[in-house]
Amino acid sequence: MRTLIKRVLLRDEPCDEIHIAGWVRTRRDSKAFSFLEINDGTCLANLQVVTDAGIPGSDELAAMNTGASVEVWGKLVPSPAAGQKWELQATSIRLVGGVPEDYPLQKKGHSAEFLRSIAHLRPRTNLHGAVFRTRSRMAFAIHRFFQERDFVHVHTPIITASDCEGAGEMFRVTTLPDEKISRDAEDFFGKRAFLTVSGQLEGETFACALSNIYTFGPTFRAENSNTSRHAAEFWMIEPEMAFCDLAGDMDLAEALVKFLVREMLEHHEGDLAIFEKFVDKGLRERLEFVASRPFERISYTAAVTLLQQSGEAFQYPVEYGLNLQSEHERWLSENHFKKPVTVFNYPKEIKPFYMRVNDDDETVAAMDVLVPGIGEIIGGSQREERLDVLTENFTRHGIDPEAYAWYADLRKFGSVPHAGFGLGFERLLMFVTGMANIRDVIPFARTPGHCEF
Ligand code: 4AD
Ligand code: MG
Repeated sequence: MRTLIKRVLLRDEPCDEIHIAGWVRTRRDSKAFSFLEINDGTCLANLQVVTDAGIPGSDELAAMNTGASVEVWGKLVPSPAAGQKWELQATSIRLVGGVPEDYPLQKKGHSAEFLRSIAHLRPRTNLHGAVFRTRSRMAFAIHRFFQERDFVHVHTPIITASDCEGAGEMFRVTTLPDEKISRDAEDFFGKRAFLTVSGQLEGETFACALSNIYTFGPTFRAENSNTSRHAAEFWMIEPEMAFCDLAGDMDLAEALVKFLVREMLEHHEGDLAIFEKFVDKGLRERLEFVASRPFERISYTAAVTLLQQSGEAFQYPVEYGLNLQSEHERWLSENHFKKPVTVFNYPKEIKPFYMRVNDDDETVAAMDVLVPGIGEIIGGSQREERLDVLTENFTRHGIDPEAYAWYADLRKFGSVPHAGFGLGFERLLMFVTGMANIRDVIPFARTPGHCEF
């Protein structure tokens, strides 16, 4: 049976018979033998294969060029070469799939833009292999974090009729032919339906029954922001806790980010090295710093004052009542506090209907976690649990209470204070890998004007 190269390289003992398979990264020939560097994607490192001329399959060596797929049988022995513990002395070798000369991933550096244009091949590069292995490990760590703390995983719907964030940035789902496109009653669901922007509202109903829950799934936003931090399809982790206020919410958000940063430091399986080498020299140091110190906490009002007194020439105005822009968020965490910052209590006018109105009647119990290099990574709040206030919020936000009657019911029948947040999975991945563009941590990114592959 084939052994994955990751497992081969972890071995403590040599082995007389090993079978591996993978793609050729490089081949060097001399008269009597060839060196093949083989990678099977299970880890960053290649396995070096030494083949003597004349072994079975060696007549195909000339076709084993960069990108070709091969199988090798042989003997695992300590490598005399520096920097690698083992090498494989081939006893038999087989070409599985050859490769023409125009294989686009020849051994040289490629721009991120070029690699996006061949997103079906880029997981074969060292960097993207590391990114997508990290993505998988982080997803697993997120489930571990919540499961170990007795949170129940809830699968909220992807097709929905409600706009959680109230921003109207939804992709419509319809089966109507073009000429009947506005006849909602004749549509598949008998009304307008969309791809969800958040699982929160449905998540709340489960928290108000099972106590602590989380969702982890794809979300969709038709916002036309062509930035390095926005995607039209991204994954979000949304925990929701019953009998919990904003302070408890901020504590959980901080604990989750720290847990995942520590996870990256402790279980990266060698992938961290490539991010440090080619993406962000100070990555490990920054992650260690974040894991070991409390986040800053500051109210929106105090943050606005700090920004106004900063003397910085921002592109967008800073004024009480306006949203913080990415440049403001980054100044707070990167330049001023030099660590993650949780900003809380935002003016109610700039936040969605579901957030709990504070006693000052001006702000809501909202919080955003901002991190250096990215800005907002988490957005959350305590939810409005008082039926009368929620009803006022519907009116203020121009929302039809009929459409959200099921949501309001939670406030009628055994209402409880509850709170939660959404962590953008790709933004987290950017933070722990140092990758600068969200398109490069998504296998096949969907952004305005782009829906390839
Ligand atoms: O701040 P947002 O919009 O919050 C919500 O959706 C709430 N319903 C969450 C909750 O309380 N349960 O989004 C949450 C996070 C952001 O902080 C950001 O990390 C990420 O989702 N996000 C995006 N990531 C990539 N591309 C986009 N277009 C994103 N929009 C939001
Ligand atoms: Mg937000």
